[in-house]
Amino acid sequence: MDHLADPTASPEIENLTERREALEDVSQNCSANPTMGDIINHRFSRRSFMAGSLAVAAISTTVGPLAILTADEARANGVSSFDFKEIEAGVDETHHVAEGYDANILLRWGDKLFADSPDFDPMNQTAASQEKQFGYNNDYIGFIPLDGNPDHGLLVVNHEYTNAEIMFPNFTSIVKETKNGKEVEKVQLGEYTKELVDIEMAAHGGTIVEIRKVDGKWQPVLDGKYNRRITATTEMQLAGPVAGHERVKTPSDPTGKQVFGTINNCAGGVTAWGTYLMSEENFNGYFGGKIAEDHPEFAQLKRLGAPGGEYQWSKFYDRFDVSKEPTEANRFGWIVEVDVMDPNSVPKKRTAAGRFKHEGCESIVNKDGRVVLYSGDDSRFDYVYKFVTKAAFNPNDRAANMDILDDGTLYVAKFDADGTVEWMPLIHGEGPLTEANGFASQADVLINTRLAADALGATKMDRPEDIQPNPKTGKVYVMLTNNTNRTADQLDAANPRAENAFGHIIEITETDGDYASTKSTWDVLLKCGDPSVAEVGASFSTATTKNGWFGMPDNCAIDTDGRLWVSTDGNNQKATGRTDGIWAIDTEGDARGTSKLFFRVPVGAEMCGPSFNPTSDTFFVAVQHPGDAGLATFENPATRWPDFKDDMPVRPAVLAITKQGGGKIG
Ligand code: FEO
Ligand code: CA
Ligand code: CA
Repeated sequence: MDHLADPTASPEIENLTERREALEDVSQNCSANPTMGDIINHRFSRRSFMAGSLAVAAISTTVGPLAILTADEARANGVSSFDFKEIEAGVDETHHVAEGYDANILLRWGDKLFADSPDFDPMNQTAASQEKQFGYNNDYIGFIPLDGNPDHGLLVVNHEYTNAEIMFPNFTSIVKETKNGKEVEKVQLGEYTKELVDIEMAAHGGTIVEIRKVDGKWQPVLDGKYNRRITATTEMQLAGPVAGHERVKTPSDPTGKQVFGTINNCAGGVTAWGTYLMSEENFNGYFGGKIAEDHPEFAQLKRLGAPGGEYQWSKFYDRFDVSKEPTEANRFGWIVEVDVMDPNSVPKKRTAAGRFKHEGCESIVNKDGRVVLYSGDDSRFDYVYKFVTKAAFNPNDRAANMDILDDGTLYVAKFDADGTVEWMPLIHGEGPLTEANGFASQADVLINTRLAADALGATKMDRPEDIQPNPKTGKVYVMLTNNTNRTADQLDAANPRAENAFGHIIEITETDGDYASTKSTWDVLLKCGDPSVAEVGASFSTATTKNGWFGMPDNCAIDTDGRLWVSTDGNNQKATGRTDGIWAIDTEGDARGTSKLFFRVPVGAEMCGPSFNPTSDTFFVAVQHPGDAGLATFENPATRWPDFKDDMPVRPAVLAITKQGGGKIG
């Protein structure tokens, strides 16, 4: 892996995905919402921002007594409620799972999903074949049992985005440029054709596939009658308060109700009535062109970072060009609901739940029957939301639930220093959300969700990612992945670290177990990063080993015992000397804040989608963008996981983790 970033080498190496993410993470929040000043000021040492092996060396030379506890010693303390043997953190070409567990590849990019799917042929990809194969960059995973069987059901998987540089053969070159007086080497993409764009569009969206356990091993059922690919061109409907509004009509859709496709579906959710929720996250990057500053849509698009121009789709499709169809982008940034029991159903974009960069949309049935859906807006200094339906869930009539997400109240969170969180409703006509302030209707409030939340004075967070209600405890976990742009004078109680490189996790306690509560309390569960480096200010328990700490929490899952599992995005040889993975975290009692490493991904990958089957004896995990490190290309990825064949590219894949001999995970 000699092409991995090495800061001592000249020229510098710039990874394409990191560059894209840096662009993506530029805050668009210019609102003057107050921060509360220096409450805790754990400044993170500059030293640890050094790239590559230098940073790893810096970390290992500052290891304190805490970090030299071995996994066995930590277990001897009896503090962790997880009894698996922790694995070693590190970086190499393959995945690792705790001893006594199997992690089997279930589906890889290009795998067949239907009886008539063509074989994966990476040198001769077409949109038509991709539409019948597992898509790229698997992210959210949900499992919907069939007939209540925990060993047989539908796996729903989001395909968030595409990495053209490691997906397409003969499409890149390595170029050098001078940046700030220093020579930088980077991967440059070739000229796009419409065929390549069409493959990208077909590799986005989601997969619904029947799977079952046969002789202890999970496998896809290729003639499953529910199997389906959803892509960036699938017909969908806008539903809820925004449907049919002037601002979502386009030249090709004068009804303002018919949309084609969903994009950048990051995390998601499965509802109590067995539908699949797909979040639309960084949709802005797919739009190109320019929009005049005096155009009525300019301000809200700018607040969302649109047009981002990261993809070339606008070259071939006018709807992705904001200068030609400025309202098309208003039809993205929603939560999409799919009825998985009808493969011909038209997915619905549920506009009542707001428009922003939805990381995920996990939901829970409240004790009064209403459904509460949590969603983070993943940008630096953006917000935490929840949506409460008006109607109650009907457990006896599935059809009665199919449109309940169209009517309800969207709230945005204000985290106060006294430990309360106020959920502020985004309702047209209330408070500042008036016509005089640019909100002429509820549709305006929802299309301009970010601007409406700005007006309410929501708390600017360190990139809210997955938010997970715990049905056992009435608590809710909010992953805040990082925000290196936060300065010391922008600190507040809920975002207590400047230059927050490693993120933190907030625990919300909903009052009296009422998830629909408008006033809750909150606490910081964990400040992430290496606890042996004092300046980092991490807060893992002292029983956490040198393998047990992590940075950049992203997705999470709760097992059937109500225990928290967190997956990460951004740990790599540069930042932490370890790959991303899954850590099991105690939240209760003396063990609170103890974290153990259970699984880790191959080099360059991000860990996504952790999801349990209903008996927690299978843990589905998604390995996203493996091999994407340094100057990664199709020809020269950082690993050829999972096939390790010279003629096979590195492939994102979903794995099913089971315990040898059976039993609950962890
Ligand atoms: Fe798609 Fe917020 O990560
Ligand atoms: Ca994510
Ligand atoms: Ca989750």
